[in-house]
Amino acid sequence: MTTYKLLLLPGDGIGPEVMAQVERVVGALGELGIASFETETDLVGGAAIDVHGKPLADETLARADAADAILLGAVGGPKWNGVAYDIRPEAGLLRLRKDLGLFANLRPALCYPALADASALKRELVEGLDIMIVRELTGGVYFGEPKEITVQADGSKRAVDTQVYTTAEIERIAHVAFDLARKRSGRVASAEKHNVMKSGVLWKEVVTKVHAEHYTDVQLEHILADNCAMQLVRRPKQFDVLVTDNLFGDILSDAAAMLTGSLGMLPSASLGAVDARGTRKALYEPVHGSAPDIAGQDIANPLAMIGSLAMCLRYSFGLGEAADLLDGAITAALAGGARTKDIAGAGAKVLGTAGMGEAVIAAL
Ligand code: NAI
Ligand code: MG
Repeated sequence: MTTYKLLLLPGDGIGPEVMAQVERVVGALGELGIASFETETDLVGGAAIDVHGKPLADETLARADAADAILLGAVGGPKWNGVAYDIRPEAGLLRLRKDLGLFANLRPALCYPALADASALKRELVEGLDIMIVRELTGGVYFGEPKEITVQADGSKRAVDTQVYTTAEIERIAHVAFDLARKRSGRVASAEKHNVMKSGVLWKEVVTKVHAEHYTDVQLEHILADNCAMQLVRRPKQFDVLVTDNLFGDILSDAAAMLTGSLGMLPSASLGAVDARGTRKALYEPVHGSAPDIAGQDIANPLAMIGSLAMCLRYSFGLGEAADLLDGAITAALAGGARTKDIAGAGAKVLGTAGMGEAVIAAL
């Protein structure tokens, strides 16, 4: 069995608590002969600021570059609210994404049968829901230049952000979406606003071309991003893979997240380009932050972090069966009544962070 090198970056707040459960699951996967890992742990975010004076040390970045995959907990917290903007905890995460070229952010919105009543929508609208949002992560309006606030002649201010996309940037994210769709239900919806944005015109044109040249077996639908937001809350099960830009993806993936219940349930993957050896840089992390309000109390839900490990097995190592086993263990633990506080309905027996980790390992 291949032994994969994982870099663990627990970070701040509940990050180390949920990462501790992943370490136990990693151990169990090894003992059960399902998958074998060598792990190394390093600092990111506020924890790194405290030691190195910056949220991502160069040697940590080098370790991240050398690892087969990176698992990250969460960064930030009130302790570091006063630090300079350039070295705030989040800057460490942004640098990892940028320097490793992690351009494709995969965010599944999956409704577990046992939790269908925790959704913001009615059970019948979300039961069986399984959407994969593919968000472009390193381009668009968050990074385009010019990006500035200037003072005008009359003393008032003017703010500019610039949405920029190139053919190559759209092509590579389109390939990620179509490849995923082939392994799922074979449908892609591409969301943009070509009716009012030039970048939307190019987005639609390039996605259409990639589809026609390489993926005619996949069904492609174009949808305006605002209509997409409406459809996500009206009839979410119409979507399978949803590909969109950085800004729309940020908003649509948060909306989709709330269809499934708690932030504590949502994993994510951020993937880079496939290199000459056929491997790709990848970082896996829960969608939630460091949750300082519940840190240190053994109540954080570790399932988003454990689900991120399952995504790592699937997307970095091609261990689809092992990923299915781990996802199945999460589903089984929930079906058996395991609940952390954030997903506990009335009358449920509530487990702590470690208790939920145990329930998943027992199911595994
Ligand atoms: P948050 O996601 O940390 O928490 C929002 C709410 O959800 C809180 O009430 C929290 O208790 C709850 N929650 C989050 N994860 C949970 C879990 N696993 N189990 C149970 N409940 C959970 O977002 P917030 O409060 O806006 O930010 C807190 C800090 O985290 C800030 O410093 C923020 O900058 C940082 N942050 C970091 C992110 C990252 O590392 N990727 C993402 C979002 C925020
Ligand atoms: Mg967001």
